[in-house]
Amino acid sequence: MDAKVQRRIQRYGWDKAADAYEAGWKNSLADAQAELLRMSDAGPGERVLDLACGTGLVTFPLAEAVGPAGRILATDISERMVDAIRRTAGERGFTQVDAFRAGAEALVGVPDASIDLVTCAFGLMYVPDPDVAMAEALRVLKPGGRAVFAVWGERAKCGWAEIFPIVDARVTSSVCPLFFRLGTGPVLAREMEAAGFSAIETRRLTAYLPYADDRAAIDAAFIGGPVALAYDRFDDQTRAAAHREYLDSIAPFRTAEGYRIPGEFVVSRGHKDAPGDFQAGDDAA
Ligand SMILES: C[S@@+](CC[C@H](N)C(=O)[O-])C[C@H]1O[C@@H](n2cnc3c(N)ncnc32)[C@H](O)[C@@H]1O
Repeated sequence: MDAKVQRRIQRYGWDKAADAYEAGWKNSLADAQAELLRMSDAGPGERVLDLACGTGLVTFPLAEAVGPAGRILATDISERMVDAIRRTAGERGFTQVDAFRAGAEALVGVPDASIDLVTCAFGLMYVPDPDVAMAEALRVLKPGGRAVFAVWGERAKCGWAEIFPIVDARVTSSVCPLFFRLGTGPVLAREMEAAGFSAIETRRLTAYLPYADDRAAIDAAFIGGPVALAYDRFDDQTRAAAHREYLDSIAPFRTAEGYRIPGEFVVSRGHKDAPGDFQAGDDAA
């Protein structure tokens, strides 16, 4: 699919999803975000760029870690997400957080070699050219700086994955054609290596997405996430049919308390080489 169309679907889709996002996904993503924060190891005074920041679930813990002497640039393709993060930063007094709208592939205005740490939690799956986004991350990182990316894992291990074919069957262009690609096998680490990151470390985590009932599972999948734009255009009949199909697809994960849907996450960290770093293949003699 044309990258421009894909970016527009994401931009306006996440505008629609912004208000429902945390209710639908905060609990489900918490373990993976905690792992990303642990691997980020942000410290006082650092300059951090949080790509695809959403409502700030990762941004604000980073802001706490860097403290008032640090700086967080929080960027997202969705204006509504940027509005949300600015609002929360104001309410919580995080003056070190600056939020602005930007696609991850074009960080206009962020100078070369100005950032200690780049993070991106659950954003790269939506970016049509993740290799370009990784090259941008490397451009803005200082030599010796690091990047940590989290994506969803293997499709077969994500019990909610049928949402995409269910929605795609009812729209003209697919919503997220390559959603599970980066989380499959070693793809994320390989792409980071190809982009130029070194010393890459990867963790694969299993989680369970808890939903109290059908309504909560439906709202998270259709309203609070990437298919929100397509769903917004469905009539009542189409919505009812899509809900039925989705509930059938997650029926195996129904429990006495609602749903416990399996999910898998991949978190990888890589570094930008500093001058003098030893390169594999260098002649050490
Ligand atoms: C699942 S949310 C993740 C938000 C946040 N990082 C978190 O962990 O909660 C995905 C975010 O990616 C953003 N996004 C999608 N495509 C993007 C792109 N090309 N560039 C930057 N952000 C993008 C969406 O607007 C959305 O806020």
